[in-house]
Amino acid sequence: MTAQANDLVAALAAARKATQFYPGEHPRFVEAVDALVAEAGMCTAEGPFTLNVHEGRLYCGSEVLTGEGPSLSSVLESMEARKVESFTFLPGFSAEDARGLTEALNLRPSPELDVEAELAARGVTGVQVSRVVDGNAEERKERDRERERDKALYRRFVSTMRRVSEGMRQGGGVDVSEASGLVPEIVSRLLESPSAVLALATIRSKGEEDLFHAINVMIYAMTVGSALELPEEGLASLGVSALVHDIGKAVFDADQADAMRLHHPQAGADILARMPGDDRAPMLVAFEHHMGVDGSGWPERDASYFPHPYSRMVAIADRYETLTKSRSGPGLTPDRAVARILSESGTALDPVFTRLFVRALGVFPVGCWVRLSDHAVGVVRDNGADPLRPKVRLIYDARGLELHEPAEIDLAGDTREIVEVVDELQLAEAAADRL
Ligand SMILES: [Fe+2]
Ligand SMILES: [Fe+2]
Repeated sequence: MTAQANDLVAALAAARKATQFYPGEHPRFVEAVDALVAEAGMCTAEGPFTLNVHEGRLYCGSEVLTGEGPSLSSVLESMEARKVESFTFLPGFSAEDARGLTEALNLRPSPELDVEAELAARGVTGVQVSRVVDGNAEERKERDRERERDKALYRRFVSTMRRVSEGMRQGGGVDVSEASGLVPEIVSRLLESPSAVLALATIRSKGEEDLFHAINVMIYAMTVGSALELPEEGLASLGVSALVHDIGKAVFDADQADAMRLHHPQAGADILARMPGDDRAPMLVAFEHHMGVDGSGWPERDASYFPHPYSRMVAIADRYETLTKSRSGPGLTPDRAVARILSESGTALDPVFTRLFVRALGVFPVGCWVRLSDHAVGVVRDNGADPLRPKVRLIYDARGLELHEPAEIDLAGDTREIVEVVDELQLAEAAADRL
């Protein structure tokens, strides 16, 4: 059997070579195709015949092919490079099949190349192919699918909140039931994969800053809540509260900036007090989210007044979001924003919740652009056990060239270090587009 297999391999290698050198109707090519058909015919006399690659060797069944010469290695390499694990030749393998197969084996290897689809496109029916299952590629695909689902959830939040604010602008009351209905979905994603949800908060707004602000503040506030291990119901209530914390702004016109800044907490509380339901947290958070724990901020209140825990969490989330997405000029990089809120901890911001938030974000928060010691640049994707060694999606290689396929690296098992945080404006790349 192996002798026949060796002949088949030699015929396949010769046919590949002939396609490269001679046009389709050239006698040498026709000859090579006929030889391949004849060899395949011999091998499949008793049924389907499989050649398969395993750990750098070519097999026929369980027997390794040991044929000498370049044809074995050329066939082996051409299969490996195109992620082909095996070819099964079927009885009736025709000249058309032989032409299609040799053509497919001459296509330039690339991650997108799908030999099976290429064979089907050429009408090949006499040979079946099975592809090497690339574990990493599968994982990457699954993660991409998850990311698309998460982004879709974010977009649903955007359109829901757009309807809420339009409804209010037209003088209707506030109805957040639709938005509240979405919150549990984000809660469960947050519990499953905090870093995936944090990555969403790096999505850039394009003209609708207030909507994106509300959603990102919700994500950051729930990050504090989840670090505090609030029960799911509490997280959902915190999320809704964060989502509507600035709803009072809707009653002011654009030219009333000062009045809006000072009075949107009261206006928001008035609106939310009329909202149906028993949950008073949204109203309280709207009223209290600009109150510092040291008595600073607004509205004015007695020295004994202390804001609700959710209000203190939303205050931190609001501050971080505003610092990183500053509308008046470029925002701070995430690491600088973390340093800033730490400096405000204990004065305006609740020190315990600030600590929890900072720990959840990590030294290099998800979405941070970082340069490594070999000059490669990437985006932080996830924080591992070592805060200085997160998981990074590399976008530019050490020479500064954009990678065709971003590489996922875990700095925990890498000799490189992070040497600096890069301002994404310098790169003109939004992290969210890359995560
Ligand atoms: Fe506000
Ligand atoms: Fe805000």
